[in-house]
Amino acid sequence: MKRLDGKSALITGAARGIGKAFAKAYLREGASVGIADIDFPKAQATAKELGEGAFALALDVTDQVSIQTAVDEMVHQCGGIDILINNAAVFDLAPFTEISLSSYERLFSINVQGTLFTMQAVAKVMIEQGRGGKIINMASQAGRRGEALVAVYCASKAAVISLTQSAGLNLIRHGIHVNAISPGVVDGEHWDQVDALFAKYEERLPGEKKQLAGAGVPYGRMGTAEDLTGMAVFLASTESDYVVAQTYNVDGGNWMS
Ligand SMILES: NC(=O)c1ccc[n+]([C@@H]2O[C@H](COP(=O)([O-])OP(=O)(O)OC[C@H]3O[C@@H](n4cnc5c(N)ncnc54)[C@H](O)[C@@H]3O)[C@@H](O)[C@H]2O)c1
Repeated sequence: MKRLDGKSALITGAARGIGKAFAKAYLREGASVGIADIDFPKAQATAKELGEGAFALALDVTDQVSIQTAVDEMVHQCGGIDILINNAAVFDLAPFTEISLSSYERLFSINVQGTLFTMQAVAKVMIEQGRGGKIINMASQAGRRGEALVAVYCASKAAVISLTQSAGLNLIRHGIHVNAISPGVVDGEHWDQVDALFAKYEERLPGEKKQLAGAGVPYGRMGTAEDLTGMAVFLASTESDYVVAQTYNVDGGNWMS
């Protein structure tokens, strides 16, 4: 018996990176997976690549109409929603005196508002279904403490940890488990962009920040998206039924809390 047999999972930002790895792992465990992303052509290509059980959904998490449309489509395709991963997010950095309102609004509308209202829309469906559910939010080590150049992203991920706690406490009465995963530094296209931004503001060579970030991990290297899939499957399965409102570090030992 697979661990997510017969379950349906909506994963935001799953066209690439960590969300795509989660989709692959959930399919392996027997779930159907809605690959929801603002980049719909890429979501379609990813769903095609992952094969049976995967399908693409157009979703902009900053738009409540778009969230409701994707949730309705998910229910239509699968007959309900058992698992949500709020994975879509964006990154930016700047010295504190150069932070712009547009960067702040972009990060908070996707990382915080998107997480809140996607959780809300899916929680309503789960309550209506009456069979509970699992919601997993993607936090970050950035949400555990500030970073000199990364104020807004850090604050957005601290908000995700806080929302996970409040939603988790409020929704457990319906059998809905809300927990979060806090990765450290995970290699992929996302970190290529992070590296380029650090290169600009810390006057580093391309690839240098990435190399330093990996060398600083107690485990001895950067994470891969696949390093996170064990926790994502655990938090979606019945094995985590007594886990409520928690955020788990999966970061090679970068942060302890
Ligand atoms: N990569 C890391 O080092 C790292 C570390 C800690 C936390 N995280 C978190 O893990 C999650 C996944 O990270 P990743 O590295 O795979 O990122 P990524 O940039 O590779 O993927 C993010 C996906 O979200 C999608 N997206 C962006 N805006 C959207 C919107 N408005 N609506 C819907 N989809 C949207 C993008 O198209 C993309 O496919 C994020 O929440 C990120 O903050 C990543």
